[in-house]
Amino acid sequence: MGRSVLELWLLWSVVMRVMIALPIAYSASSTSSQEALLVSRIAFGSCANQSAPQPIWNAIIDFDPQIFIWLGDNIYGDVRHPFKLFGKERTIGPWKNVPRFIPSSEQEMQSRYKKTKTNPGYSRLLEKTKVIGTWDDHDYGLNDAGKEFNGKITSQRLLLDFLDEPQDSPRRKQAGVYTSYTFGPVGRQIKVILLDTRYHRDPLFSDGSILGSSQWTWLESELKGPASALTIIGSSIQVISNLSAITGPIFYLECWGRFPKERERLFKLIADSKRDGVFFISGDVHFGEITRYDCATGYPLFDITASGITQAVEKAVPPPLNFIVRFVAWLAPTTMRVMGQHCRHKSCTYGDWTFSRPAKFWSN
Ligand SMILES: *[C@@H]1O[C@H](CO)[C@@H](O)[C@H](O)[C@H]1NC(C)=O
Ligand SMILES: *[C@@H]1O[C@H](CO)[C@@H](O)[C@H](O)[C@H]1NC(C)=O
Repeated sequence: MGRSVLELWLLWSVVMRVMIALPIAYSASSTSSQEALLVSRIAFGSCANQSAPQPIWNAIIDFDPQIFIWLGDNIYGDVRHPFKLFGKERTIGPWKNVPRFIPSSEQEMQSRYKKTKTNPGYSRLLEKTKVIGTWDDHDYGLNDAGKEFNGKITSQRLLLDFLDEPQDSPRRKQAGVYTSYTFGPVGRQIKVILLDTRYHRDPLFSDGSILGSSQWTWLESELKGPASALTIIGSSIQVISNLSAITGPIFYLECWGRFPKERERLFKLIADSKRDGVFFISGDVHFGEITRYDCATGYPLFDITASGITQAVEKAVPPPLNFIVRFVAWLAPTTMRVMGQHCRHKSCTYGDWTFSRPAKFWSN
C-alpha cells in the first residue's frame, strides 16, 4: 500500500457532492482461508436533513456498499433561527439579541432521529449494509459546539441508539463516541478509526485540543497497534483543507486547520506510528473535495470529503445561479485541493451523483 496505490485510486476516482464510494476490487487469485469477508465497497456521507427528501439513498443502495459510514450531521438536531438583521429577534450583526442556533429537547432529537431511521431509503440500506458512524455539531446538539455543551451525555446516548450500538458496549460508557473497526481477512484488513471532534473540543480560536487527552491516548494505541492494509480515519471536520486560512476573516469553516498544533500532532503521530496506507474521510462542509498533503509522512496523505446527503452549497441558491457557486468554488485558492485530471470542473463542488470507478486495490 502507500503512494502508488493511493495515487492509482485517486486517478480513477471522482468526487461526488453527496457521497463517495471506495471500490476495492477482489483478487481472484487469492485462496484465503480466512472467515472474514473481504471488504470491497465502503460508502460514506454526512449532512442529512431529516425533514428534507433524501433520494440519494437509492443511488447508494444501487452501489451495494458493504459498509456505510456516517460522518456527522446525521440529523439536524438543533433549532435554527432565520437570519434577521432587524426587528425584535435579531440573529446577526453586532446588535444581535438572540442566538441563531439553540439546542432542542431530548424528545425532539429522538423524533428527528426516528424520521431518518424510518426513511424508506435509509431503512432499505440498513437491511443489507453495516452502518457505523460518528457525529458532527448538529447531531451533537448545537451548531459549532465543543466540550462546553451540556447536552452531550444525552446526545451520545441518542446517537448510539440510532446506530444500534449494543447496550453493553464500552462505547456507551466512555466520554465521547470515538471508536474503531477492523474489517476483512488478515493481509487485506481495513481499519476504520472514527474520531469524536466534539465532546472534548476546546473553543474555536483557542488553538487548544480537538480530541482531548483520553482520545489522544486511545488514538495512539490504535495507530501503533497491529498493521492493516488500509487505515481510514473518519473525522467529521476536514483535516487537510486549508480553506479557512485563506477565507479567514470573512468566513470560517470548522476544520483541523483552525487548530494548527492539534493538526501537527496528528500528522506527527501518523508519521511516528510508521503506519502505511492511512487516509482521511470527512464531511461537514456541504461540498465534495479531495485534498492532499505531502509533507506529513513518507507518502501523501489524502482527505476525501463527502458532504451533503441533503445539504449542498449549490442548493443554497436558486438553480439558475448554481453555476455562480461552482465558479466561486473553482476560484477559491485552497492550496491543498487535489486538481486531478479526472475531477470534473476541477473544482470542489460536484453537481451530479457520480460513483468512483473500480480500481484495483489489492494487487495480489
Ligand atoms: C430541513 O428541511 C426542511 C424542509 O425542507 C426545512 O424547512 C429546514 O429548514 C431544513 N433544515 C436545515 C437545517 O437545512
Ligand atoms: C495551511 O495553513 C497554515 C496556517 O493555518 C499554514 O501554516 C500552512 O503553511 C498552510 N499550508 C499551505 C500548504 O498552504
